Amino acid sequence: TERTLVLVKPDGVERKLVGEVISRIERKGLDIVAMDLRTVERDLAAQHYAEHDGKPFFSSLLEFITSGPVLAAVVEGPRAIAAWRQVAGGTDPVEKATPGSIRGDLALETGSNLVHGSDSPESADREIKLWFPSL
Ligand code: GTP
Ligand code: MG
Repeated sequence: TERTLVLVKPDGVERKLVGEVISRIERKGLDIVAMDLRTVERDLAAQHYAEHDGKPFFSSLLEFITSGPVLAAVVEGPRAIAAWRQVAGGTDPVEKATPGSIRGDLALETGSNLVHGSDSPESADREIKLWFPSL
């Protein structure tokens, strides 16, 4: 079994899609281990997205992720990292995310693509420690 960090980003909370996302986690058969609604400090956001530091979209990414409350969750199950990336859909909601995925069904723009999921076991470890240090 594996753990991954899931976020419903500020656009998802604003659009009242938290229930929709939780429902898709549950319907996939994944377990929710921890969950918390919070507004992200810039420092946490920068650490979370450290791999993108220096890219042209980095500052708008930090601006966006700190713009309102996010739902953060630790989700567990067999192959949870890949399973959740599949449920979420590709980064670009139009070019990459397929119909049936959260981004494919419900998002239009890469910069506001509703959800996050860790992209590897190393990222998941790092992100879960960052967001839920007590776990
Ligand atoms: P996350 O789950 O948020 O990490 O998305 P991801 O893993 O599908 O994509 P990635 O980690 O490569 O990028 C992180 C976030 O930065 C994406 O979700 C996008 O919101 C944003 N992003 C990535 N690439 C671009 C880009 O080329 N342009 C813009 N505007 N935003 C981008
Ligand atoms: Mg990513």
